[in-house]
Amino acid sequence: MQQEHVGIDYSAIHRIDSPANRLLRRDVWEPGNDLGQQSFATVRYFDDLAARLGIGAGDSVLDVGSGTGGPAIHIASTTGCRMTGVEITEVGVEVSERLAREAGLDDRVSFVQADGMSMPFEDGSFDIAISMNVMNVFEDKVALFREVRRLLKPGGRWAFLSGTFAFDEGDAEVRMRMQRGYAIPQYTDTLESYKAKLMEAGFVIDEVVEYISDFRVQMDRWRTAWIRHRDAIALEQGAEQTDHHIDYFTCYLEMIDAGKASNHLVISTRPED
Ligand SMILES: C[S@@+](CC[C@H](N)C(=O)[O-])C[C@H]1O[C@@H](n2cnc3c(N)ncnc32)[C@H](O)[C@@H]1O
Repeated sequence: MQQEHVGIDYSAIHRIDSPANRLLRRDVWEPGNDLGQQSFATVRYFDDLAARLGIGAGDSVLDVGSGTGGPAIHIASTTGCRMTGVEITEVGVEVSERLAREAGLDDRVSFVQADGMSMPFEDGSFDIAISMNVMNVFEDKVALFREVRRLLKPGGRWAFLSGTFAFDEGDAEVRMRMQRGYAIPQYTDTLESYKAKLMEAGFVIDEVVEYISDFRVQMDRWRTAWIRHRDAIALEQGAEQTDHHIDYFTCYLEMIDAGKASNHLVISTRPED
């Protein structure tokens, strides 16, 4: 299978039941807030996203980069929609399928191992496409957005939640540290460049919402938890990468506090032909 767009190898992080991941997740999430999400997003962001899109029982929804499936399963459970997650790692799909079975939703929630740049579905297969905290792994966003457009019915809606960054020339070092901590090149965008790329790919932008307050709180908790459980994580993910990842959280928080990083929900529509 083609892996070139995978970015960080999430496989170690996706083993959510491993000893280190259990310790981390117990520290990071308030009771009821751990959906198995692989991000800083809280339940209220997922619920708000579903409400703004008006996702309902008749809808067929695509989730690009579904991780370990928690957010997709939660949205399917609360809205009654049919959900298809696309995830590049094998372990992510395995964990997602298990969580869907445990939730009793495997009749209308499914997961496919594939690259978001080339998804194995017919044109016009979905009413709605969503993606949560995945966009920065894609180098060519216009091509990704065109692939999503292909899969949407005319009039279908596309919503993604993504970190947005406005680095300037003095931020070369912090960019390098963030990239190193994430173990991959990060193809970050400003909110304005996201909008331009959506329009280039044929979408009309409906709404932009800044989601940063909970996100920052959760990021700080991840950082604290990674520091506290550093040795347990190092056993699973390697000491050097663990320390780089802690530094990634530190840099990200500094960028948020400097007003150079945020997190946005961007909702757009594929116009009728
Ligand atoms: C930050 S995680 C977010 C996962 C999930 N959306 C969530 O909110 O829990 C990013 C996910 O994107 C996946 N990913 C990376 N590159 C991808 C690609 N080219 N196609 C599909 N998924 C990809 C990663 O394996 C990871 O599961």
